[in-house]
Amino acid sequence: MILVTGGAGFIGANFVLDWLARNDEAVVNLDKLTYAGNRENLAAVMDDPRHVFVQGDIGDGDLVSRLLAQHRPRAIIHFAAESHVDRSIHGAEAFIQTNVVGTFRLLEAARAYWVGLDAAEQAAFRFLHVSTDEVYGSLAPDEPAFAETRRYEPNSPYSASKAASDHLVRAWHHTYGLPVLTTNCSNNYGPFHFPEKLIPLMIVNALAGKPLPVYGDGLQVRDWLYVSDHCSAIRRVLEAGVPGEVYNVGGWNERPNIDIVHTICALLDELQPRPDGRSYREQITHVKDRPGHDRRYAIDARKIERELGWRPAETFETGIRKTVRWYLDHPEWVARVQSGAYREWVRTQYAHG
Ligand code: NAD
Ligand code: DAU
Repeated sequence: MILVTGGAGFIGANFVLDWLARNDEAVVNLDKLTYAGNRENLAAVMDDPRHVFVQGDIGDGDLVSRLLAQHRPRAIIHFAAESHVDRSIHGAEAFIQTNVVGTFRLLEAARAYWVGLDAAEQAAFRFLHVSTDEVYGSLAPDEPAFAETRRYEPNSPYSASKAASDHLVRAWHHTYGLPVLTTNCSNNYGPFHFPEKLIPLMIVNALAGKPLPVYGDGLQVRDWLYVSDHCSAIRRVLEAGVPGEVYNVGGWNERPNIDIVHTICALLDELQPRPDGRSYREQITHVKDRPGHDRRYAIDARKIERELGWRPAETFETGIRKTVRWYLDHPEWVARVQSGAYREWVRTQYAHG
């Protein structure tokens, strides 16, 4: 079995659902259920005996040690984090606690468990740390995309906390021999994405008739990867990645934010036209820029392709259409996230929850 942290969040939930749909290996899912954790994302596996959900903090070393001793996983896939840059600007404390201290405690519990395994189990064990391209800082328009050798230059409290966690993971391999793998991925999008992030926020605001707030000139560039492609990259790195190595993961899909918003508006104009027949584009408003806003990210994903044979399956056109469709098909999920009712979802859906 494997232990997943943060498996009730956006990427973690997609990963758990994809994992259990593909093989019979069980998952222990440790998630604190912060505002970003939503058990409703896991509704499809709620009664699946292969899925053991545990509400708890990665920073609780005793709890993690107990879970490791009880379930004896062959790998830990570490998604749990505070993940939103804007929130990190308003309050960095939780980012330091979870992303830095929490990762440290998880590494220590993993190391103690790993040391106690027999030689074959030790050799097979993996600690896969899910990180971000933001640790590399910001690119000038003509600079080459981020390769794994790029210098770390994190610019936000979020990216600094993720960079710190990457360094801890690296050190636990170098010093103690823990078999770690690190992935640094670009911007994900897809089902279950919390509507504080650009793509889901634009979709739900558009449908609600609200303004579409584009920061600054909207010409900041991100690389976008459909979430199931990120999940397949993680499975491939877990399967064939070399311990101690770092793999950058991206979609070969750099786009300015304003183009993303225009694409969403065009899809909504087609799939759910406004009652007045006008375009959703009319709701776009340019608002004050994010402080310290990184101008451009781009991922050079040639290493994972060359060494592990991974490439994304979705194009942006197929992925964004699926995503917009998913939000149109799940108005109840959106409503419960917006009202806060998702935090009560298990109690109201399952008497035994
Ligand atoms: P998310 O915010 O949607 O989910 C995070 C999950 O972690 C939530 O379920 C939350 O309850 C849980 N969590 C938070 N603190 C915890 C703690 N102390 N103990 C246990 N659980 C805790 O995040 P996401 O977008 O799914 O990102 C997952 C991981 O992928 C993060 O490490 C993030 O840095 C990384 N990442 C995200 C993206 C992206 O575009 N979203 C891109 C690259 C990397
Ligand atoms: O690059 C990977 C990172 O992508 C992950 O590590 C983070 O966890 C994830 O949140 C994401 O970070 P970003 O800051 O790039 O994502 P966000 O969706 O917040 O913003 C994307 C871009 O859109 C960014 O340039 C800011 C801009 N933006 C965002 C919001 C929420 C807007 O213009 N308006 C908005 O309302």
